Amino acid sequence: MSEKIVLTGIKPTGTPHLGNYVGALKPLIEMSKTNKTFMFIADLHALNIIRDPKLIKQHTYEIAASLMALGLDLENAVLFRQSDIVEVYQLATLLMNVTPKGLMNRAHSYKAAMDKNAAAGLDADAGVNMGLYTYPILMAADILLYGADEVPVGADQKQHVEFARDIAGYFNHIYGETFKMPEPVIGESTGIIPGLDGRKMSKSYDNIIPLFANASELKKKIMRIITDSKLPDEPKDPDTSTIFQLYRHFADSAEIDALRGKFTAGGMGYGTAKTILFEKIDSVLAAPRAEYERLMANTAEIDAVLDAGAARARESAAETFERVRRAMLG
Ligand code: TRP
Repeated sequence: MSEKIVLTGIKPTGTPHLGNYVGALKPLIEMSKTNKTFMFIADLHALNIIRDPKLIKQHTYEIAASLMALGLDLENAVLFRQSDIVEVYQLATLLMNVTPKGLMNRAHSYKAAMDKNAAAGLDADAGVNMGLYTYPILMAADILLYGADEVPVGADQKQHVEFARDIAGYFNHIYGETFKMPEPVIGESTGIIPGLDGRKMSKSYDNIIPLFANASELKKKIMRIITDSKLPDEPKDPDTSTIFQLYRHFADSAEIDALRGKFTAGGMGYGTAKTILFEKIDSVLAAPRAEYERLMANTAEIDAVLDAGAARARESAAETFERVRRAMLG
């Protein structure tokens, strides 16, 4: 076990889908086998989008239950709700005072909101709340509060981790060495996980396959995957096929080679390929799905895990916050 501290947050804005599994959940579970990891459900970060507390709670359970059902190591990984640790709200308030407004103006997500407004002929800040604008400060508080060395994130979050470094640097410069410098770790690319229509799998495209859809729903979704119109006899291109691109994340290398061969040789229709894909995914996910369903029917068990995680997280948070408070306020 290495000594470094790994930390990441997952925003509870949707029911986990196969793209989340391949791109985030699976690599995080692997990482938890060998590293002390703080892993939290970033419910505070969902507040600038989701206004329904029931929905935030539901997605929080879904993410926690997914991680647990997929075998997250709960010894190494401290799994908790971001909002359970009051020190993070407090630290965010303190960090505001060393964070230049200009840094926030440069944030990709804020700029994207402004660009969208400009394109629609609206005021630059229409619909932008301070939760969105100060999002990177709250995220810096997350990262710095637990002394993270490494922050595994998707490429879209890299700038936020760099902002956390910037903010830590401003703070240390004024108040003396207080924070460690976190490093963003962008996992080796899993490539784009395509959804039903071939575009990136994303809730906003309405093309997802839920991670723990039951077998008949899973089958129905897979049968709806859009393909080109090649006939069964014709050779097919695995590299542009959504079916094959999903299959390669669930099968072993011999199976992947075998299916690739069937695509390029011709003689296999897309219907058959879809059945092969369904059977593979179903066999990999059947046992975790049963455990997921059991947990979702017993949310008290999920709460117990999240509460125990919060108790562990709080120790580290309280210690850091006290040091910061003293450094700033004497
Ligand atoms: N902003 C991240 C996302 O949207 C989630 C997140 C919140 C996070 N706090 C974090 C990720 C701290 C890493 C570290 O995906």
